Amino acid sequence: MTRPLTIAGNWKMYKTRKEAALFIEELKPHLQSKDRVWLAPSYLSISDAMQSAKDSPLQIGAQNLHDEAEGAFTGEVSAPMLKECGVSFVLCGHSERRTLFREDDQMIARKVQSALQSGITPLLCVGETQEQRDRGEAHDILAKQLEIGLSHVKDLSQVVIAYEPVWAIGTGKTATPELAQEAHALARQCLREKFGAVADQLSLLYGGSVKESNAQELLSEPDIDGALIGGASLKVESFAKIIEIARGIS
Ligand code: PGA
Repeated sequence: MTRPLTIAGNWKMYKTRKEAALFIEELKPHLQSKDRVWLAPSYLSISDAMQSAKDSPLQIGAQNLHDEAEGAFTGEVSAPMLKECGVSFVLCGHSERRTLFREDDQMIARKVQSALQSGITPLLCVGETQEQRDRGEAHDILAKQLEIGLSHVKDLSQVVIAYEPVWAIGTGKTATPELAQEAHALARQCLREKFGAVADQLSLLYGGSVKESNAQELLSEPDIDGALIGGASLKVESFAKIIEIARGIS
């Protein structure tokens, strides 16, 4: 089964509107029409990013959403609002949202559902903490986060998943390709049991300190279908290099 590789950047709370637009202008010459490259800037930069990404294969997404379509939720942004801006994907359940903003699996499941209802691809992030891994719970956590996070999903083909071990995010400590492959194979197996053969077409990205120096070996693993990249997506040079590596493997 050959699945296209997706390289997705998560800019977190970095880059102003101007910086976002400049980055994309500089990235565009490095892109080729068949590349699957996604970028999630801050909410405020989405429209500028969309404008700059015109006539390029770059897809613009968001880093979060509220699970309701509208309401008295000060400071929040909904799926229909994102859709109107032309957003094509949205991160759901990033570990920083889970820990810093106390999002639980049920809330994340509703966010996934809300994204789908607006025709936006949810990019569901899952992964264990160091303590959970040390206690031997990594696989159970992964299975649980997938089970609950996808509990409202009927058609898995509309979803993308990122396995991001929390201990590898922003720490420079990457999972070995073997460990990542094992987790991805397990995740795919869980999904096969629940959704059937469509799980073999699912894009399952790896995230956690992906950089130029480790992208080749991670992306070469059979169940790793791309990368969700934080730090290394902030510099055109490193992001473009990872895109080039993915192109060489695809
Ligand atoms: P990192 O972040 O690449 O900086 O580890 C990944 C992420 O948070 O998605």
